[in-house]
Amino acid sequence: MTFSFIEIWLVSLIFLTGVVILIVTLQLNAALKKLVQLPQEAEDTLTWWQKFTGLKPLEEERNLMMEHTYDGIEELDNPTPPWFMYLFYLTIIFGIFYGAYYHVYATENLQAGEYKTEVAVAEKAREAYMKQFANSINEDNVTLATDAKDLTSGSTIYSTNCVACHGDKGQGGVGPNLTDKFWIHGGGIKDLYRTITHGIPEKGMIAWEKSLNPIQIQQVSSYVLTLQGTNPPGAKEPQGEELK
Ligand code: HEC
Repeated sequence: MTFSFIEIWLVSLIFLTGVVILIVTLQLNAALKKLVQLPQEAEDTLTWWQKFTGLKPLEEERNLMMEHTYDGIEELDNPTPPWFMYLFYLTIIFGIFYGAYYHVYATENLQAGEYKTEVAVAEKAREAYMKQFANSINEDNVTLATDAKDLTSGSTIYSTNCVACHGDKGQGGVGPNLTDKFWIHGGGIKDLYRTITHGIPEKGMIAWEKSLNPIQIQQVSSYVLTLQGTNPPGAKEPQGEELK
């Protein structure tokens, strides 16, 4: 993971600001305490809860009175209560760790990274689902695929694997012509699916189940059937029985 100049600059700026704020508040707090100067005994008699909340006993209110009034309303000089200051310091410390964790050391946990991880997980789940779906196709239940997407995919599978023996247009070569009505092993979608899956090894037709998954076999079978009646030039003579 690389950082851009701006990122490093921004993170450093945030850190520096945090540190400066922390120092300034601590200094201010100390200075204020000196200014207010509670009598020592009074400080000692406070319970921890009174110290934590920073509330002054009512009898001391007179000492806290500020020397001005606004329309007859007088103001007490109550410093920010300690519990609030503790909370504030905590947020600064939290901010430093948060910034370091998410922006300096573990950038992959940022939203974009989390998104990528989740997409990868979903992709895996989708693949598993597709596999399950693919395995549910077999030679007994296979149907003719008519989707343009399936046929395009079938056409690609055909050009990569079958052209060498059946010709680029299905006209035949080493293997039989696939565009006529004559079939040695049957011309229905289920017949083609079976022939392509298990092959005719003794005659030189490979069993494709090892390299193609059931969906791909369905797609290429369906594609082959779209070649019916195209009558390509150089078509091989019919073999097998005519499908009526
Ligand atoms: C190595 C050459 C070769 C390759 C590659 C090949 N085939 Fe064949 N194929 C043959 C031969 C030879 C036969 C005839 C088998 C027989 O005579 O029983 C055949 C038969 C067939 C049949 C049955 C034809 C019929 O008349 O019943 C189909 C369908 C078929 N192939 C489809 C395909 C598909 C789809 C591919 C690509 C995935 C493919 N073949 C790849 C050689 C090949």
